[in-house]
Amino acid sequence: MTLRSSTLTLPLKLSRRLGPERAHRLAIGALSVPLVARVAGWAASADDDGLAVEALGRRFANPIGLAAGFDKDARVVRQLGRLGFGFVEAGTVTPRPQSGNPRPRLFRLPEDGAVINRMGFNNQGLDQFLERARRLRAGSGPGFPFGANVGINKEGADPLRDYAHLVRTLAPHADYLVINLSSPNTPGLRDLQQADRLRELLDAIVSAAPARPPVLVKLAPDLADESLPGIVEIVVQAGLDGLIVSNTLLARPPGLHGPHIREAGGLSGRPLKPRSTAMLAEVARLSAGRLTLIGCGGIETGSDILEKLQAGADLVQLYTAFAYEGPALLGRLKRELRQALQAGGWSSIGDARAAGRSVVHIAGER
Ligand code: FNR
Repeated sequence: MTLRSSTLTLPLKLSRRLGPERAHRLAIGALSVPLVARVAGWAASADDDGLAVEALGRRFANPIGLAAGFDKDARVVRQLGRLGFGFVEAGTVTPRPQSGNPRPRLFRLPEDGAVINRMGFNNQGLDQFLERARRLRAGSGPGFPFGANVGINKEGADPLRDYAHLVRTLAPHADYLVINLSSPNTPGLRDLQQADRLRELLDAIVSAAPARPPVLVKLAPDLADESLPGIVEIVVQAGLDGLIVSNTLLARPPGLHGPHIREAGGLSGRPLKPRSTAMLAEVARLSAGRLTLIGCGGIETGSDILEKLQAGADLVQLYTAFAYEGPALLGRLKRELRQALQAGGWSSIGDARAAGRSVVHIAGER
């Protein structure tokens, strides 16, 4: 093992001995230490022009983002950027701090490359998040691309008032905002995806924050295909900018392994990929270039990324594969993505998307 790869994998091996939530806390804590972040940064994966993407009105060095839920309080956004992500979405942040559901609430399904979580929006609340977002955006120039994902508290929420307040408050301090309507762990949240309620909510947000960065809505993969045309039209008509497809899955696809498969919560990782990619393709067909799409769900390889891009994604995100593999994941994904582009005869992500051909599988990939 080289020094470079051991720098990245040794802490991960140690953290596997801990429970998943302690391992996560440890990772955030370690990245908060400047020396650790710097060492991890030295070993980070490089970008090149072939991986660059223009989306949401700015340039991304690569299309691979860290999905919401890892850095809920925007504590280590820059450090995660130094590991090689093209962008980081922090949150979900709610107006007031809350502790989330009782533990245990996070379960590994290693044989399936999956996780089940019912965290319940544990976060330090808007005031702390805002303070950190302000610091991130201090200084001149476009900075590292940073999205803020917002949600509502479990107790005492008024969705119209709260989402409008969150968007208005964070609008000057993020590159894009995400209205999270798809966590399975906040009672009633997913009902806001119903046509009438969605229209009312998005109109309230738009009138509360006339000056705002791009705003996207994050969807649940359990939505029926029949509801997608209505949702796409409402988002376009409201003047919003895009969709994230998707959050975690309530349904349990057949074939899962291990003692935790019946735990309540949202399923992420490998078993989510078929549904989230099929839904992305359908949303891409319906939106026909009118929305920016972020594909999320079950990405583990460069081919998975290409598959999402060719299904219509402008950018992609992942969480579960990073939780299992740690920072070394990014170098592998970029290498595999370059190989997949080369195998298809494309010199850039844009070429591959435009070609919209079927997925290229690289020999030897999982
Ligand atoms: C999540 N996800 C999530 N999404 C969100 O919008 N807000 C959140 O707070 C969280 N929290 C969260 C916690 C944990 C432990 C996991 C595993 C996931 C969902 C996440 O952003 C992503 O949409 C899914 O996990 C699908 O991507 P992967 O994990 O299959 O790559």
